[in-house]
Amino acid sequence: MRIIVCKDYEKMSDEAAKIVAAQLTLKPDSILGLATGSTPIGMYQRLIDMNKAGEIDFSKVKSFNLDEYYPIKADNNQSYRYFMNENLFNHVNIDINNTRVPNGEASDPVEEGKSYDAAIDAAGGIDLQILGIGRNGHIGFNEPDENLIMGTHRTMLTQDTIEANSRLFNSIDEVPTQAITMGMVSILKSKMIVLLANGKNKHEAVKKLLDDTITTSNPATFLKTHPNVVIICDEECYNG
Ligand code: F6R
Repeated sequence: MRIIVCKDYEKMSDEAAKIVAAQLTLKPDSILGLATGSTPIGMYQRLIDMNKAGEIDFSKVKSFNLDEYYPIKADNNQSYRYFMNENLFNHVNIDINNTRVPNGEASDPVEEGKSYDAAIDAAGGIDLQILGIGRNGHIGFNEPDENLIMGTHRTMLTQDTIEANSRLFNSIDEVPTQAITMGMVSILKSKMIVLLANGKNKHEAVKKLLDDTITTSNPATFLKTHPNVVIICDEECYNG
């Protein structure tokens, strides 16, 4: 696991965007694993700028997002599908049919999970997975628990995550309590993983990535078993 500590969020977003750009240069038909949330927004803005400047091309890219609230309609402005369209897909030359977000309207979430993992495998696996991290150490919505789940599945959000995400809703009661998320193995099968974290409130979660323990109480610690992970964080997150 390598760590790149950047001066601030802007620099962190620059570094992350450079890695994605390099990936698309090396393999124009890359399979990208994408995250929502506040953290990757700066990186997405830079990727949009690079695409508009003709520096990177998304025309052959396929993408799979980590997670989606459940149940939620795709056109709800709180859905992760909506977020991705607004923050990236509508502004770059990606074919929207090549973008997949777990279906928050699936009548059978178990079937949705199976078909999601099968689609990732059929596409050849994720080349580059972008992750954020919860302040409780969750990746995707794999929340701290005694057991973690391997494949894409429906899950309950923890109270901590509901509170953290309530900043984006009118009230905490509006925050969905469930999600469909890629599982731990769905994530760990990716060829390369870049985890982004900024701000003091991620310090404790990220600190646990830098020792030599693995624990289901911080799911992100399982990234230590992966041969190709880069953490990009800002000084505030690193120093606490
Ligand atoms: C989002 C996701 C989550 C977030 C995490 C951090 O698709 O899977 O794990 O990455 O909750 O969210 P922010 O970036 O809003 O702090």
